Amino acid sequence: MVSFATTQIRFDHSHVLALFRSYSSDLDPRVKQALVRNITIALDIHTKLEEEIFYPAVIEAGASTDIKGKSVPEHDEIRLLLMDLKTLEPSGESYDGTVMQLMRETLRHVADEESTLLPEAERLLGARLLTIGLRMTRRRLELLRGHGAELATNAVELAGAPLLVAGQTLRRSFLGR
Ligand SMILES: [Fe+2]
Ligand SMILES: [Fe+2]
Repeated sequence: MVSFATTQIRFDHSHVLALFRSYSSDLDPRVKQALVRNITIALDIHTKLEEEIFYPAVIEAGASTDIKGKSVPEHDEIRLLLMDLKTLEPSGESYDGTVMQLMRETLRHVADEESTLLPEAERLLGARLLTIGLRMTRRRLELLRGHGAELATNAVELAGAPLLVAGQTLRRSFLGR
């Protein structure tokens, strides 16, 4: 398990963006739903780790980034979209569009964190990022325990899905490359 807090955060970002790249409008609805459930778990755990442990540490260290006024409200926006997706049918018309909106919001938030907040945290906290990272790892394991059954179901649903091809489709349609 990665120890430094900012390395963990970058790893989480890459993981969730890879899940988005696996999503495509032409996937079976059950596969779409399983992917969205995995995205939901990944974002739920990640935002909790940031809000409970990482953000307070960066604020306490004197960050100039507006965490309370910008980063946390952006997490709230992401949570609202995740809640919308829970109520929508994956075969319905607005499902793909809502996933696309969620991906855009997440991409923007991640880009901001990686370009501003994480470098600032590294400057301000230095070696303390190791202790913060260990606290995050402990909390992550607790949070993961609550999602074990759901992750197992999703793995069955996703087994055999043509994710690589689907991911390329999504990159083309959502990211234009
Ligand atoms: Fe965040
Ligand atoms: Fe993040």
